Amino acid sequence: MQKVVIIGPASLKGEIDISGSKNASLPIMISTVLAKGSCLIGNVPNLRDTRFLVSILKDLGCKVDFKKNIFAVHNSNITKKSADYEYVRQMRASIVLLGPVIARYKKFKIALPGGCSIGTRGIDLHLKALKLMGVKISIRNGYVEAERKLSKLIAINHKFSKISVGATQNIVMAASLAKGKSTLKNCAIEPEVIDLINFLNNCGAKIKFSKRTIIVDGVEYLELNNHEIIPDRIEAGSYLLATMASKGKVIFNNFKPDDLTLPLEKYKLMGLKVKKLSNSSYQFSCNKLNTIKKISTKEYPGYPTDLQAQLVATLLKVGQKSKVTENIFENRFIHIPELRRFGANLKIKDKTVEINKVNDLYGAEVMATDIRASFSLIIAAIISKGTTVINRIYHLDRGYEDFDLKLKKCGVNIKRKK
Ligand code: EPZ
Repeated sequence: MQKVVIIGPASLKGEIDISGSKNASLPIMISTVLAKGSCLIGNVPNLRDTRFLVSILKDLGCKVDFKKNIFAVHNSNITKKSADYEYVRQMRASIVLLGPVIARYKKFKIALPGGCSIGTRGIDLHLKALKLMGVKISIRNGYVEAERKLSKLIAINHKFSKISVGATQNIVMAASLAKGKSTLKNCAIEPEVIDLINFLNNCGAKIKFSKRTIIVDGVEYLELNNHEIIPDRIEAGSYLLATMASKGKVIFNNFKPDDLTLPLEKYKLMGLKVKKLSNSSYQFSCNKLNTIKKISTKEYPGYPTDLQAQLVATLLKVGQKSKVTENIFENRFIHIPELRRFGANLKIKDKTVEINKVNDLYGAEVMATDIRASFSLIIAAIISKGTTVINRIYHLDRGYEDFDLKLKKCGVNIKRKK
């Protein structure tokens, strides 16, 4: 079980190249099963999750390669019609295979993803819409067994009862090959959803969107085309918060400010200084960190749930009854007990954590529990005195490419240990 050792305190000073977006790469890599031909997808981050997805696609029979951040599709034909539990349980996002595969093939079986440490993570929204599109769904032995009776999926007019990134992506992919025009309402509109739509349209799909409505005109077939993945806004936000917490000064390359509009507004109120160096390079610094009264996570363009844990860690030494409310997942405070091990003063009430500042934090042995919670432990370690050991860092390797090298380059004393 790998771990990292961080000796704090440190102040981030240097340069960080932001990697391609994990949450744009996964659905776009999956969507290639919809189309014929071959293509190169660039700027795919080299992560545990992207490498794992390549092994799932290979297991299904696709001829794909992944080297030096380029995902190459030679042939996206699926020969095996089942995504096994062994795979799906390790990467929930694989559930968005269901829509594209059943749009192209008559039958597919995929293991129920099950919950994870941040919540139950149901797939009812995915299955409800697929049934309306003419997919016969049965749940048996922990698997979703899907069968398409008609020659094509049926286009639908459908309003999601809850905004869901994965369900939106699954159904948009399915609808792109359905017979007729689908109108989907109450959709997720995260930049990663838009990047998927742009990729599909470049492959011949006919998808338009306005606010939370997405209209998909089903086409006969799709032809793969090359694509460059957008920068990872959540990785960027995580390092921004680490820069602020440690009162550092860092240049971010491959940075896309438009995808972090609201977080940047909040961070500037907290004391973040921004200097534009070019269209994709920005210098961020923070000399004095101010507290915030209250922030609540919301679907995009609201404050992202994926930057909640990192914000809590950033407020540990400045919070004055600061309140952070988690509205997206029902159990996304598992980092709180770990942060308390540094000496943090945190109180949870329902979906809100109250942060009361402490003057000093001290390094501790802690455990990573999910991708984003793990980064909050890194921030806490960087602003603590002494040695921190973070266990189970495969969570970090799932979402942060070369995080130890990027932090080391910015002056953090961080080492991987077996
Ligand atoms: C995506 O997960 C992201 N993952 C998550 O990032 C992110 O936190 C989440 O969107 C919210 O922004 C990827 O893109 C790979 P949802 P997803 O469906 O699609 C409930 C990370 O760290 N729900 O938008 O699974 C669900 O339980 C990860 O990179 C249902 O009830 O999230 C949750 O409470 C963590 N039924 C809420 O909706 C459903 O059928 C939002 O989930 C589907 C979802």
